[in-house]
Amino acid sequence: MKNEETLIICASYHHMNTMHICKKIAKILNAKIIEPKDFKEELLSSYGLIGFGSGIYNGKHHSSLLDLVNGLNKQKNIKAFVFSTATIPVKSMHNAINQILINKGFEIIGQFSCKGFMTYGFTKYIFGGLNKGRPNEKDFANAINFATNIKSQM
Ligand SMILES: Cc1cc2nc3c(=O)[nH]c(=O)nc-3n(C[C@H](O)[C@H](O)[C@H](O)COP(=O)(O)O)c2cc1C
Repeated sequence: MKNEETLIICASYHHMNTMHICKKIAKILNAKIIEPKDFKEELLSSYGLIGFGSGIYNGKHHSSLLDLVNGLNKQKNIKAFVFSTATIPVKSMHNAINQILINKGFEIIGQFSCKGFMTYGFTKYIFGGLNKGRPNEKDFANAINFATNIKSQM
């Protein structure tokens, strides 16, 4: 029987931007959400689809998520999707996690990213932060469309 259960591992620390997106995706996929610290590899056997999401830090997903994926054994027959929020979403910022996931045997069936509020460093003092109000309702609608598309592939 095909396993359609979904687990999402989400590392969202700066402003919980990615967690807001994660919850929209999880609702469509009826997915369980956990943080990297609560992950155990045995969990994977119960799920056919795993989502990996975080804010982007220095051009990549959060190190807690990258370390988690790096530490996995090679997998078989598990689909994955990748999502993120960032100050400036660019395609290349998913490269690091995508490469590790592919090496670990995951099949990546979709990717999503959008802008997230950021107050790191000088931006807090000069502009009161970048991307105020993001993710916004349009981002949530896009995330829901993304999740609906993922669901149709299962
Ligand atoms: C230390 C730090 C480094 C960051 N590096 C990047 C970056 O390289 N590229 C980018 O677009 N955004 C960067 N950001 C912005 C975050 O990716 C953005 O605020 C994201 O929405 C945070 O997600 P979170 O609230 O779920 O943790 C950085 C933020 C912090 C705090």
